[in-house]
Amino acid sequence: MKNHFQNNRRTQQQAAKSNACTERRPEVACRSGGNLIDMRGVTKAYETAAGSFTALDNIDLQIEAGKFVAIVGKSGSGKSTLLNMLTGIDRPTVGEVGINGTAVTTLTEDQIATWRGRNIGVVFQFFQLMPTLTVIENVMMPMDFCNVYPPLERRERALVLLEQVGVADQADKFPAKLSGGQQQRVAIARALANDPPILVADEPTGNLDSRTADDVLTLFQKLADSGKTVIIVTHERDVASWVSRVVTLTDGRIVTEKQVLQIDDCYSPFQTPQSAYTNEEAVHA
Ligand SMILES: Nc1ncnc2c1ncn2[C@@H]1O[C@H](COP(=O)(O)OP(=O)(O)OP(=O)(O)O)[C@@H](O)[C@H]1O
Ligand SMILES: [Mg+2]
Repeated sequence: MKNHFQNNRRTQQQAAKSNACTERRPEVACRSGGNLIDMRGVTKAYETAAGSFTALDNIDLQIEAGKFVAIVGKSGSGKSTLLNMLTGIDRPTVGEVGINGTAVTTLTEDQIATWRGRNIGVVFQFFQLMPTLTVIENVMMPMDFCNVYPPLERRERALVLLEQVGVADQADKFPAKLSGGQQQRVAIARALANDPPILVADEPTGNLDSRTADDVLTLFQKLADSGKTVIIVTHERDVASWVSRVVTLTDGRIVTEKQVLQIDDCYSPFQTPQSAYTNEEAVHA
């Protein structure tokens, strides 16, 4: 039987491909109660040799459009499993996942790949760039699958995205010639290729030095400021400096939620976003 690391590798490869899609973008879907993401009663149990193991336990999570959300927690707390539920890489045992008006849990495998290509850009800890394609070709690949942008516009769009993430000068190199931080920027450009409303990243800074990690978090923050909904799993200690919300998982349950106020919302003009936690709330005892 394959272990879950092998499964994770396989599903990452699937998701890297499905930063692409095969059909045209549909009409804009409606949002559920103002929330772009709406998880209700999501439980994920794995059958193991030792019996059933509950990796996620009755998760309720709603996220509005344009938020930058960090999911934190100890190793094994269920962070990657939660992301896999959001991206449709894996299915809940019980519960519903609604994203951008679509009930993801009702889609077939084929439908999910297409839906993900339009709606979610996925970024990985180890970048998952295609080594035999140049940087610009990596960014164009999801566009070639998806057909949202006409062929003659794709190279120009890829260059614009590479400029946006600060690596346009690397466009014609192969990924192996780039630093880790540069490769992660390319991976973010690739995730943006089809202009999805949501970006999801599992430990995107886990393989970067702290300064480069800060740069990548700042980039995600800018993308959220520009209207993308960004959800990252991270072990960065001071992630609250960048995000608008921190969701903490313990043993598959959401234990605390912290909303981070924007500076304009603070009572004191001297209060920093880092010190402006509010609404700390025990969601589950
Ligand atoms: N396919 C699987 N089969 C059995 N158990 C699994 C499977 N996938 C994950 N698990 C278990 O579910 C729990 C949550 O795993 P998950 O990968 O979501 O943790 P995580 O919070 O992402 O950890 P890390 O920080 O180490 O990446 C762990 O105990 C893990 O061993
Ligand atoms: Mg993980």
